Amino acid sequence: MRSREEMLQAVNYDEAKVPQFVVPSPLQKADGSTVRNAAEWVNFQRPRVLEMFRREVYGESLPRPDRCSFQLLSCQPDAYLGLATRKEIRLQFEMVDGKTHSAEMLLYLPNQATAPVPAFLGLCFKGNHVTSSEKEVRITGQNYPGNQDLGEDKRGLQAERWQFPEVLKRGYAAATLCYHDFFPDHANGWQRSALSLFYAQPDSPAVRARHTAIGVWAWGLSRALDCLEAEPGVDARRVAVHGHSRLGKTALWAGAQDPRFRLVISNDSGCGGAAMSKRCFGENLEIITSVFPHWFVTSFAQYARREAELPFDQNFLVSLQAPRAVCIASASEDLWADPRGEFLSGAYAGEVYRLFGAEVYSPAQMPAPGGRLSGLVSYHLRAGKHDQTWEDWQHYLELGDRFLK
Ligand code: GCU
Repeated sequence: MRSREEMLQAVNYDEAKVPQFVVPSPLQKADGSTVRNAAEWVNFQRPRVLEMFRREVYGESLPRPDRCSFQLLSCQPDAYLGLATRKEIRLQFEMVDGKTHSAEMLLYLPNQATAPVPAFLGLCFKGNHVTSSEKEVRITGQNYPGNQDLGEDKRGLQAERWQFPEVLKRGYAAATLCYHDFFPDHANGWQRSALSLFYAQPDSPAVRARHTAIGVWAWGLSRALDCLEAEPGVDARRVAVHGHSRLGKTALWAGAQDPRFRLVISNDSGCGGAAMSKRCFGENLEIITSVFPHWFVTSFAQYARREAELPFDQNFLVSLQAPRAVCIASASEDLWADPRGEFLSGAYAGEVYRLFGAEVYSPAQMPAPGGRLSGLVSYHLRAGKHDQTWEDWQHYLELGDRFLK
C-alpha cells in the first residue's frame, strides 16, 4: 500500500487527465441486453442493482429491531420565539434477548401548521446541540468516545447548515440525530454501533465483511422515519432526506434502500456518494477506502486504482432513487468532491428516469457557479467551499415546495 502522502500526491485535479471510460449503464442486464420499460426496471433490474451495491459498496441491509419505542424527553411549545414546537425524542431499540441501543432525535414542528406537515430529515456530525441556536437543546454525540464537540461552547456552531427557522417558516418540520449515535465514526466504532443489536461481536471480521458505517447510518435514517411516522404533526409520506458530505453519501444510500423517502438530497457528497468513481478526479477509491476503512465493504477497496474495472458507477446509486425526486448539489471550490463528477452521475441516471417519462438534464448542461437545474433530477453548483449553506437550502426548499406539498 502507498503512504498517505504518496496517495495525496497522486490525486488528479486536472480535467485533461481524467481517464477516458465507458459509462456503465444501469439499464444493462446481466445477459447484455437493455431494460426497456419502467416495469422491468422496478421488478427486475432495480433489485439487482441494489443487491450489487450491498455486496460491493455499502453492505447488507439490517432489519428493524424486535421493538422500537419513542420516548418524549422534552417538549417546548414556544421554541424560536413561538415559531415552533421543539421536541426531543429517544428512539429506544430492544431485542428479545435483552440487547438495547438508543439514539436521540431533535424535532421542530412549525406552530402555524393546521395539518400534518412535510419534513426535512438529516443526520448531523457533531450532535443535536450544534445544529440549533437554542441553548436548551440536549447535548448528543456522547457515543463517540473522546468526542470534542460536547462542550457548551459548541452549541449552535453549525446552525447555519440547518437553517431551522427558515425551514419552519416555510411550513416544514425539521429533524436531526447525531450519526455517532448509530455508528461512532472511526475505524473502531463497531462495538458501540447499532450492529450490537444484531451481533454478539459487532467488531468481528465476519460482521465487518458484511456491514459498514454508511449502511448503519442509513439504517438510522430509516428508523428516524419510523419515528416521524408515529408523530402526529408530521406527514411521513412527505419526507426529504438530506445530508452533507459523508452524510450525503449516506442520504443517497438511505434513499436507495428506503422508498418512503420522497426527496433525496446529496449535498457535496463526493467520492463514494454522487461523484463518478471512474473519473478519478479529486478524492479516489484508494484514499477513501484506506482513510475510512469502516465506510465501505472491503470489496469496494479492491477497485482502488482499478476504477476502470468497476462494473457500475455512482450513476447507478442515483438511478436507484427513480422515480422519486433527487437533488445533487456541488460547491465550485470543492474539487476534492469532484463537482463535475457529481453533476454527471445525475445526467447518467437520466436514462432510468426517462423510463418513467421524466425530463432530465444532459451531460452537456453543466451550469456555471450559481446555476441550477431543477426537475425530478436536480443539480446546483453553488459558488464557494465544501459546506451546506443558506444558498443550498433555497434550492432544497423550492424542491420541497414542488415535490412535498
Ligand atoms: C473527507 C472525506 C470525504 C467526506 C468528507 C466529509 O474529506 O475524504 O469523502 O465526504 O470528509 O464528510 O466531510
